[in-house]
Amino acid sequence: MCGIVGYLGDNPVYPVLIKGLARLEYRGYDSAGISVIENGKLELYKCKGKVADLERHVNGKLQSGFVGIGHTRWATHGPPNDVNAHPHASDSGKLHIIHNGIIENYATLKEELINRGHVLKSDTDTEILIHLIEDIQMRERVDLLEAVRMALNGVIGAYAIVIIDADHPDTLIAAKKSSPLVIGIGEGHNEFYLASDATPLVEYTKNVVYLEDEEIAVVNRKTGLSIRNIKNQEKTPYIQELEIQLEVLEKGGYDHFMLKEINEQPASIRDCLRGRLQLQKGSVTLGGIKDYEQKLVHAKRIIFVACGTSYYAGLVGEYLFEDLARIPVEVEYASEFRYRNPIIGENDIVIAISQSGETADTLAAIELAKAKGATIIGICNVVGSSIARLTDAGSYTHAGPEIGVASTKAFTAQVTVLTLMALGIAHRKGSISDSKFHRSLVELDSIPEKVNQVLEVNAQIRDIANIYKDADNALYLGRGFTYPVALEGALKLKEISYIHAEGYPAAEMKHGPIALIDEEMPVFVIATKGASYEKVVSNIQEVKARKGKVIAIINYGDTVVKELADHTIEIPETDDCLVPLLSVVPLQLLSYYVAVMRGCNVDQPRNLAKSVTVE
Ligand code: F6R
Repeated sequence: MCGIVGYLGDNPVYPVLIKGLARLEYRGYDSAGISVIENGKLELYKCKGKVADLERHVNGKLQSGFVGIGHTRWATHGPPNDVNAHPHASDSGKLHIIHNGIIENYATLKEELINRGHVLKSDTDTEILIHLIEDIQMRERVDLLEAVRMALNGVIGAYAIVIIDADHPDTLIAAKKSSPLVIGIGEGHNEFYLASDATPLVEYTKNVVYLEDEEIAVVNRKTGLSIRNIKNQEKTPYIQELEIQLEVLEKGGYDHFMLKEINEQPASIRDCLRGRLQLQKGSVTLGGIKDYEQKLVHAKRIIFVACGTSYYAGLVGEYLFEDLARIPVEVEYASEFRYRNPIIGENDIVIAISQSGETADTLAAIELAKAKGATIIGICNVVGSSIARLTDAGSYTHAGPEIGVASTKAFTAQVTVLTLMALGIAHRKGSISDSKFHRSLVELDSIPEKVNQVLEVNAQIRDIANIYKDADNALYLGRGFTYPVALEGALKLKEISYIHAEGYPAAEMKHGPIALIDEEMPVFVIATKGASYEKVVSNIQEVKARKGKVIAIINYGDTVVKELADHTIEIPETDDCLVPLLSVVPLQLLSYYVAVMRGCNVDQPRNLAKSVTVE
């Protein structure tokens, strides 16, 4: 949610900022802007729209600056327009700021500033902050760093900020709390890149420092990087090495990142299993949670907290952990959990699931559970993300950067980690037999190849998408392990094609949604062989009796559902508990093609952003 980028060095700043903003555009694309110091003057360009609109707006006018900041916005306070676009300027115009987050006490601060004669131009909370900083600088006669520190002590909310000062072109000041900020250190230690995540930095440097909450960083051409916290204590920068490769940030010949990421799933699931599933030894090892294995084996209850697609992965986790490891599980929307005074204590294990590792609600849920003494385990994709750093232990999903706003490969990687965890714990606990454990490992190992086979039905899915692309509504049905997949299928369709869709447990249909069914209603049913197969066949018959259109995902060679359904998509057979990993793939492809055929912006759907760092 909002991407920020900054650069200070010996190279022209404009290309670095624009390229960085394009990489961060998945975080928000309501408006974009940059401020660059050229010939001692702060030049500001900003406009409603995307980074490409900003480039047109700048129109080659920024050539010679070596220090600057840039922002791509997901609107919170005030509509997306030119005025509300970042950067925002102080009263004197000498300080500019970019911000990702929300200043919660902005209304009080605004009133105070207006009473002191400040004139605010935008509706944003961010503009308040830069006025406040300059106000303190003037009133208290302190330098900019001290003014930033004092201002942040009076701010409630979340922020990742970078400030540029026309009078000090050799310096940028950055700070963060609850929103991410990473600093890349270039060659010679007098070149610095600042960004919301590491993607704008990878092509320039591998050496990064992740700023911690309430830390303020100063990067200076001569003195380098120094960090202190808002209590004015000095901190030693901890330099880490980045592992992302540049190629994974490009589309690699695909029309959209989403399609690329769907097609990457055989490889991303394989990467997730690598070194963890040891077929020869017949074991599962998740190094990151090794010290917590016993605790998990003896757990009386596990609570998953997550949002969106990650929440649906958590629902699959519930079925996995209860069925295999016989541990009671609750799955909670992080946004509900954090505000509903949950009963939780030292014996509880909370597993937070998040692709970005930055989701504000999930972070807050973790903080709450931590304060109540629970053990917190994370399942994150982004290495070094806030959630990954806040948890007691965790397993990365190793899916690689996911850039399409709609989550695809992150979901299957999350489910893969959950499957490994559940199988490993179940085996240690003795809740599944040796032979079932070994059979499941062999089957899990074959999943990447089976996902490859599912991807081969691409053309057929495109044809089905073409038939239903103009639908106003759609229903998704699944049972048992595939119920969360039905929810995820519906979410994928609605978020990128703007068709209203609902996921339901197949048997619940007759308790209400069946009233919606008529000859216009496409009903996507996951009807693979397994414990509820016969029941789902009956549910399909109920839909057909009301003239609904059934598109069923079935196993190779199933003639029963083929007879009943209007269209079928055939996928390989697998264990019940692994079906989510295969059955979700055709639904991802279907949403993708429907969205493309409707002319929607697949990778950047309206109103959405990838990393939801506001609550
Ligand atoms: C849907 C989607 C969102 C995210 C949700 C949580 O395709 O991407 O629903 O799953 O915003 O994000 P993370 O997993 O980053 O915490």
